[in-house]
Amino acid sequence: MTTQKFFTLSNGNKIPAVAIVGTGTAWYKSEETDATFSQPLVDIVKKTLDTVPGVVHIDAAEIYRTYPELGAALKDTKKPRDEIFITDKYSTLKQLSENPKVALETSLKKLGVDYVDLYLLHSPIIKESKLDVEANWKYLEELYKSGKAKNIGVSNFAVKDLEKLLAVAEVKPQVNQIEFSPFLQNQTPGIVEFSQKNGILLEAYSPLGPLQRRPEDADKLPFYQYIAELSKKYNKSEAQILLSWVYERGILPVTTSSKIERIQQAQDIFSFSLANEEVQKITQLGLQHPALRLYWTDVYSKYDSESQK
Ligand SMILES: NC(=O)c1ccc[n+]([C@@H]2O[C@H](COP(=O)([O-])OP(=O)(O)OC[C@H]3O[C@@H](n4cnc5c(N)ncnc54)[C@H](OP(=O)(O)O)[C@@H]3O)[C@@H](O)[C@H]2O)c1
Repeated sequence: MTTQKFFTLSNGNKIPAVAIVGTGTAWYKSEETDATFSQPLVDIVKKTLDTVPGVVHIDAAEIYRTYPELGAALKDTKKPRDEIFITDKYSTLKQLSENPKVALETSLKKLGVDYVDLYLLHSPIIKESKLDVEANWKYLEELYKSGKAKNIGVSNFAVKDLEKLLAVAEVKPQVNQIEFSPFLQNQTPGIVEFSQKNGILLEAYSPLGPLQRRPEDADKLPFYQYIAELSKKYNKSEAQILLSWVYERGILPVTTSSKIERIQQAQDIFSFSLANEEVQKITQLGLQHPALRLYWTDVYSKYDSESQK
């Protein structure tokens, strides 16, 4: 039987403590047309919903252009809606919809659901819209009050962005989804400590960065040797060790895979626990590595030297 864990958000709501199907990164498409429809994505989401026990946490976004695939899988599954946790994001950098309200109404239709469980502003960086972050946030508060978004939050926000938002927010952001792995322990300076102090749950995307970009001489590096040692000790995959480390840091890992076994393993990270010393040792060995930043490099690479603190 799979043990499942949840985090409690500042509004008292529960959120499954790992998101196992991200529908961006490897699944991302620059166009949403019949020709780009991805049957493999429908199949993997459907298989996940049909075979993974407990509440399945899916991470979606307007900019990924994968709502049709997700909608097809949701339509076909027997898993009840309350055992599916859907995170969606409004595209702020590139304006694909007039405002978050119009965007969410469209995505609800495409997904064939009445509400999403979590709705995020995808980034604080806005290029095309006349709406600034504060104006966008007002829409999210409206969607929260209407029940169409059960929880609301942000993504890729730095401390100064959160400070600006907290100064005007009637409903505080419940989540900040950032890039986080042993090789990138602060996407922007001080963001982990600030979010945690302010009761904003952090989510970690690209938590498996060190495995995605495994160096050729990894076997000689203490970090990789230690992950391999823990993998053997607990009889869990190296990916499960890293996801478990993220959870033990009080952060919710957001992962994905094209392989059903890996998705099932991601849901199964609560069947073992790393010891405190092991969590700390992964943290320390990770910090000895140069920063590995996979996303938002044009805006945040300037912080690389401060991101391993
Ligand atoms: N808010 C944002 O700005 C933002 C940015 C980026 C991502 N995200 C979200 O986060 C989700 C996850 O991001 P991510 O894909 O970077 O997450 P990740 O969990 O770090 O990486 C997943 C990738 O790692 C590979 N992988 C899994 N196990 C592995 C192993 N043992 N060795 C080597 N590779 C392995 C998988 O490939 P296989 O298919 O071969 O298993 C998959 O492509 C995205 O889908 C998206 O929903 C959000």
